[in-house]
Amino acid sequence: MRFALAPLAGFSDAPFRRLCFEGGADICYTEMVSAAGLAHGSSPTRHLLETMAGEGPVAVQLFGADERDLAVASRIVDGLVARSGDGRAVELNLNAGCPMTKVVRTGAGARLVEDPDKVRRLLVAMAENTDLPITLKTRLGPHPRETRIFEMLDAAESAGAKGIAVHARYTSQMHGGQVHLDVLSEVVGRSHIPVTGNGSVVDAKSAAEMAATGVAAIMVGRAALAHPDVFLRLKGRRVEECDAASRAERHIAYLLAFREHLAERYPDDHIPSADAFVSVKMHTHLFRYFSGMPGAAALRARLNMVRTIADVEDVLRGMRRFLL
Ligand SMILES: Cc1cc2nc3c(=O)[nH]c(=O)nc-3n(C[C@H](O)[C@H](O)[C@H](O)COP(=O)(O)O)c2cc1C
Repeated sequence: MRFALAPLAGFSDAPFRRLCFEGGADICYTEMVSAAGLAHGSSPTRHLLETMAGEGPVAVQLFGADERDLAVASRIVDGLVARSGDGRAVELNLNAGCPMTKVVRTGAGARLVEDPDKVRRLLVAMAENTDLPITLKTRLGPHPRETRIFEMLDAAESAGAKGIAVHARYTSQMHGGQVHLDVLSEVVGRSHIPVTGNGSVVDAKSAAEMAATGVAAIMVGRAALAHPDVFLRLKGRRVEECDAASRAERHIAYLLAFREHLAERYPDDHIPSADAFVSVKMHTHLFRYFSGMPGAAALRARLNMVRTIADVEDVLRGMRRFLL
């Protein structure tokens, strides 16, 4: 079975993807990238498209609701892929599942589940402007009384999409509640393109249940956030235990390497300082590596205060002393 890291806004950036590749992921999705942002030249948005050395194959995910924006954004991704020449970007994916208000309000994300014909047009606009294979990520429908996934599958197939990732929940469920594996099995049965299954795969049991639907690959989101090596575990491989402080240090090293990469690649853009780059991620992500440990709440409070790399090193040194 092939395993993918799900697109995770605010998390699945290049440094974290690199950790997930080391942790057994076969492909990693970028966080969702605004087609309008790219089309209008936003540099922070462009930075989200960058990959870094040590990564494997990456699927770039776009969100948007406007055919022209998606056409321009797809051309930009295509140009970037050609320019980098590293062959890491292997797929261009359309987000038709994000339920966040700020996305849905613009007609994008989960709002698209209600309009399969629009999805077909958006996918065609993308396909006409890139050589990368186009794929779709979506949900079963707006709510359990309105299953639209089969029309979405038709839309994807008729637009020439090369795959579909299905979060087997309805928009009304957000990220909780039952994962509808019965509907997913039916999608697999009807599909002529590879189906990737997604939704609360966290361990061998949930992976086996998802695999039993016949999906070609399994996509994992939240379970990877605190455990980027979850993919190796799901593959039944032996995993060297990695203590949280070492994992955080590796993540920080990759953050700094990626910041250097951005600074070289975009010398005219504003790139946050190394201190800001690292401490923001400490506040938003790296603290998760320590959850469940004794004193985790107090540690989280300390990590929330860090403003510099020296502060972070200080906390990690203190932890090591505590652990030894
Ligand atoms: C913090 C967070 C950010 C997410 N960002 C995206 C995104 O950018 N694009 C997308 O298609 N889905 C996004 N999702 C949904 C996930 O890709 C995935 O479909 C969902 O978390 C279910 O998988 P899981 O149960 O393995 O976490 C996000 C979910 C979370 C929790």
